Amino acid sequence: MMGEIKTVGLLGGGVIGGGWAARCLLNGLDVVLFDPDPDAARKLEEMLQNARRAYRKLTSLAHGKEGRLKIVRTPDEAVFEADFVQESAPERADLKIELLARASRAARADIVFGSSTSGLLPSTLQSQMTNPERFVVGHPFNPVYLLPLVEIVGGNKTSKGAKELAAAFYSTLGMKPLHVRKEVDGFIADRLLEALWREALWLVNDDVATTEEVDDAIRYAAGLRWAFMGTFLIYRIAGGEAGIRHFLSQFGPALKWPWTRLVDVPELTVELLDKIEHQSDAQAGGKSIRELERLRDDCLVSILQALRGYGMAAGATLQRYEERLVAKSNPPVMSKKYELAVPLRLYEAFASSDGGNDAIEKFYAKAFDAARDAFLSYVGVDGSRGFAYFTVETHLAHRGNVEGGAQIHTTTQLRSLDGTWLHLFHSLFRSDDEALLATANQTLMHCDTYHHRACLPPPDVLRRLEEIAGAHARLPLPLDST
Ligand SMILES: NC(=O)c1ccc[n+]([C@@H]2O[C@H](COP(=O)([O-])OP(=O)(O)OC[C@H]3O[C@@H](n4cnc5c(N)ncnc54)[C@H](O)[C@@H]3O)[C@@H](O)[C@H]2O)c1
Repeated sequence: MMGEIKTVGLLGGGVIGGGWAARCLLNGLDVVLFDPDPDAARKLEEMLQNARRAYRKLTSLAHGKEGRLKIVRTPDEAVFEADFVQESAPERADLKIELLARASRAARADIVFGSSTSGLLPSTLQSQMTNPERFVVGHPFNPVYLLPLVEIVGGNKTSKGAKELAAAFYSTLGMKPLHVRKEVDGFIADRLLEALWREALWLVNDDVATTEEVDDAIRYAAGLRWAFMGTFLIYRIAGGEAGIRHFLSQFGPALKWPWTRLVDVPELTVELLDKIEHQSDAQAGGKSIRELERLRDDCLVSILQALRGYGMAAGATLQRYEERLVAKSNPPVMSKKYELAVPLRLYEAFASSDGGNDAIEKFYAKAFDAARDAFLSYVGVDGSRGFAYFTVETHLAHRGNVEGGAQIHTTTQLRSLDGTWLHLFHSLFRSDDEALLATANQTLMHCDTYHHRACLPPPDVLRRLEEIAGAHARLPLPLDST
């Protein structure tokens, strides 16, 4: 019974076994692990630390108590009390066959064994086991504690029950089991990866591209789409309203062109076209091409924005693009063009929020940060001079909701200037109808970033601030400005 899996026996604690240990422990299961490497405990602890860090970022929900880790000296001890065993020893058939045979003799007869093998056939691996019907391949991906996919493959002696139990168990660990219909070398994922990998090796071998250029060709385009729609669904959209059949027919002739070293291609027979069309229709679940396009675009935007936070690949491109937009839209350092008799209108944007409290909250907070930055650059604060204003307090008041895509702008009023302290009041408006959406009070402190201490702003900045402060003192007090 599924609920009874409390202790997991792990054979091998390297990259993959360590990842399994982390996933199990962080899900509250006890782990008993065997690995002949005398350094295994240190490596495991280091991987666990990374996994804990990643889980804290992955979800803010409580994970419950971590399981206990015990490292033992023999495979027999690792499986003796286990309710499930996962083997992650080196990818050598002889070694795995012997290890599984030995461990299966020491384990309870009814517990399921999963193997992390990347592509060895389960029929081979289970051949010397006692009770081989309880053996499945449970092929994970690195890092095991984050990537959800686990391919489940049975051998010729595997029972249906073992496959179902393994799938149910992996699901409780937050994974996505994928049943592989036929026992085939490399299973599904590694066959796909292998095709790409072999082609990549040729490209480097033939000096068509460097290793980095090959990676760029993936991570700036197709890799981003694969993350949420894979290959077939993306190509369905590429076929437009005419559909996947049209796409296949259009690009059918290319299958005969020398676009790849992989030249053994199936004929696009009527049967194959029918099969793909039928399966693709089911996969699309009744969504129109336009709906799928919107879903694709939303997922891409989320991924691009997430990558921007790390300045990685396409996220770095987005970062540079935004910097250019900011440079274009930011006002020049204080010019007469700006009227000081009213609050300064220095920041405009389009709402990125699609509704929902969380999204709106984040968007407002971001808009006020941008309004502050625009104000600081307006008065000539330039971080590269070794000085900066740090925000010490922000009070945000929501007045209304905004729909995604709406144009917004902010106004900024300098409420007070007191030595190193600056108090700003921003208002955020929908530009169409001037509806007030939110306001923010911000207190900032001027600091010397080299010596890490508060100090007065440089004279030119102070002069500008004083000029604005003088003019803004005559403005009425904003409603929410306390
Ligand atoms: N690395 C990957 O990206 C990846 C992904 C999916 C699956 N896999 C598969 O996972 C398995 C493990 O690969 P890895 O990348 O963790 O390799 P690894 O070399 O990092 O780890 C293998 C571990 O097994 C230990 N070991 C050696 N002999 C052993 C034995 N007799 N019994 C138990 N442990 C033993 C080693 O000391 C080592 O710590 C392989 O079958 C591999 O194909 C690897």
